[in-house]
This record gives sequence, C-alpha cells and structure tokens, in this order.
Amino acid sequence: MTATAHMAGQPKGISALGLRKAYGEKVVLDGVDLEVPAGTVFSLLGPNGAGKTTTVQILSTLISADAGQAQVAGHVLDREPDAVRAEIGVTGQFSAVDNLLTARENIILMADLHHLPRNEGKQRAAALLERFDLTEVADKPAITFSGGMRRKLDLAMTLVGRPSIIFLDEPTTGLDPRSRRNLWQIIHDLVAEGTTIFLTTQYLEEADQLADRIAVLDGGKIVAEGTAAELKRRIPGGHIRLQFADVHRLDVAARALGQALRDDEALTLQVPNDGSIPALRTVLDRLDAAQIEAEALTVHTPDLDDVFLALTGNQVPGQVSDNTELAKESLR
Ligand SMILES: Nc1ncnc2c1ncn2[C@@H]1O[C@H](COP(=O)(O)OP(=O)(O)O)[C@@H](O)[C@H]1O
Ligand SMILES: [Mg+2]
Repeated sequence: MTATAHMAGQPKGISALGLRKAYGEKVVLDGVDLEVPAGTVFSLLGPNGAGKTTTVQILSTLISADAGQAQVAGHVLDREPDAVRAEIGVTGQFSAVDNLLTARENIILMADLHHLPRNEGKQRAAALLERFDLTEVADKPAITFSGGMRRKLDLAMTLVGRPSIIFLDEPTTGLDPRSRRNLWQIIHDLVAEGTTIFLTTQYLEEADQLADRIAVLDGGKIVAEGTAAELKRRIPGGHIRLQFADVHRLDVAARALGQALRDDEALTLQVPNDGSIPALRTVLDRLDAAQIEAEALTVHTPDLDDVFLALTGNQVPGQVSDNTELAKESLR
C-alpha cells in the first residue's frame, strides 16, 4: 500500500477479513476476505445462492456478520455504521422503485430521505433524469416503465446521495442485451468519475467487461480472485485442435508435436496451447518441418466460463463457451 492511501480524507475502498454468516445450520459465508481499492470496479461472481446478496447486505450495514471485520470507505463497519451509510449507495437485487410514484417523485423521495433542501432535491432529480435519459418519462408513474428504465431509475435514486461507493446487486439480471449495454456504459461513466463499484453478477461476460478485479464466490468461500486475464490463465483448458486428411498424416503430426490428445476416428489432434500467435506459430512450424499440412485448425481459448466451470462445477445457464474458429488460410 502506498503512503497516500493512509492519509486522512483520502477516499477509501472496501476491505473485509473473515466474514462469516450462517442462517441456523446453513453456513452462507464461511470466511470471506475481500479487498477493493477506491476508484475500482470489483465484481463478486457466483451462482445463485452463493451468498452474493448476503455479502452486499453485510458490507452495506443492512445485516451484521456473525464474525469477521470490514472497513468501508475508511470506516469500521460495526463501529461506525452511520458513517458508512453516508458514503455508500445500494442498488439492490430487487427494485426499490415505488410503482405508484413517477420517476421524478421517486428521486425526490430519495432526496428527502437524504435531508436535502427541497430545491436542491428537485435540481438533482432533474439532472439525474436528464443524465439517464428519463426526462421524457419523468412524470409518468414507474409502473409503466420497462425493466431497463426501472433499473436506470433505481440507479438514479442510488446516486442522489452522491455516494463514493456503490453496491450493485445483479444490476442487469433480466435485462435485454441493449439495456444491459446501456447500463454498462453508465457504470463505466461512474468509474470515470472516481466512484468505487462493488458489483455482483452471475454473468461472466459482465464481470469481464466491467471489473478491474473479480472474485468467485462458491460454497461460502472465495475460490479465486484476480483480474479477468489472471483468472483465465489459471485454467489449463486452452488448446488447438488440428484435423488431418488421413491416418498417415495424423501419425506423422502426432510424432512431430509430441504431447497431444489423439482421436483416430475424427483424425484430430488436440494440442495444449494458449492460443497466442507465437504458440500457434511453433505448432505450424513443427508441422512444416515434418512436411505435413493440417486440413483444419480450431483455437479454443479458455474464457471465464471455463474458469467458472472449473472452480465451481457449475455450468452457467445460457452461456456457451467461446470457440474461436480460425480458417487455416488466415494464418498464412
Ligand atoms: N434471511 C435468510 N434466512 C435464511 N436463509 C437465507 C436468508 N438470506 C439468504 N439465505 C440463504 O443464504 C444463501 C445465500 O443467499 P444469497 O446471499 O441471497 O445468495 P445469492 O445472492 O448469491 O444468490 C441461500 O441459500 C439463501 O437461501
Ligand atoms: Mg442475490
């Protein structure tokens, strides 16, 4: 840690050590450690029931942990909950929008809860409606809103108190792809302004797109933590698949390439490979040296789906792993 990070008044992120929480016999969090530097996006990734919402509820002072310590925005969680609350905004997994109120009324209600003077509340509401492209529907009841509009309104309500740290619990679950991208852009903009974001998601792509660091929560523990690239590197699933015209070529290639998984029926070799250009070139050079040409070449780069699968044993619903088909010609 740098010296400046200790200076008073410096924005602080989130750190937690040994968080535990059980409901009766059921252990939900079994010693969770987290470190989120100020001004970064941290994604807590995990399947349904992993304990993501529980973690958010603890860090945002809504419930208390059975054990462990945490600091949020420079304040010790259980000693200064009010100071923590003053620094954070929470957009829960389930909408806080009041359906019977208009968008503007919902935001002004939040401004009242923050004890903002009436005029300032109105001004802030107008600015937030403008920012989230909700001005045209500002005076319509929220019940008429689409899922994407509702999420934006939810976030606008969270921003009323100008939080330095925002918790977003599955912000895009159930949204169509366009609304999801829209929200991603909003999150990018918030980060650019220096806001610290703690985001939970079941979507690997979302964590990949947004997060500086990702932690995978499973069975009440953090089973992996790092940048998306670091997590991907931990998975040995990267390989290329080469197909040959006949068994003779397959034989020669297998000898030339050494370590490879061979399928005589499909006439393929599966060679461990990180998919980088130099690694591909090495393989092709060896085939050249053996005077053998492959009929087809497929690169499989491990992605976060592989990480998730390898770490949690859970297949992510609706996500297909990303096989990059490369025409042999394109490598020449
Ligand atoms: N108030 C509660 N009482 C009992 N069990 C709970 C309560 N809240 C959450 N749980 C259980 O804790 C586990 C984790 O829940 P949650 O934190 O909501 O997971 P996630 O947000 O990752 O889907 C689940 O098995 C859930 O049923
Ligand atoms: Mg949840």
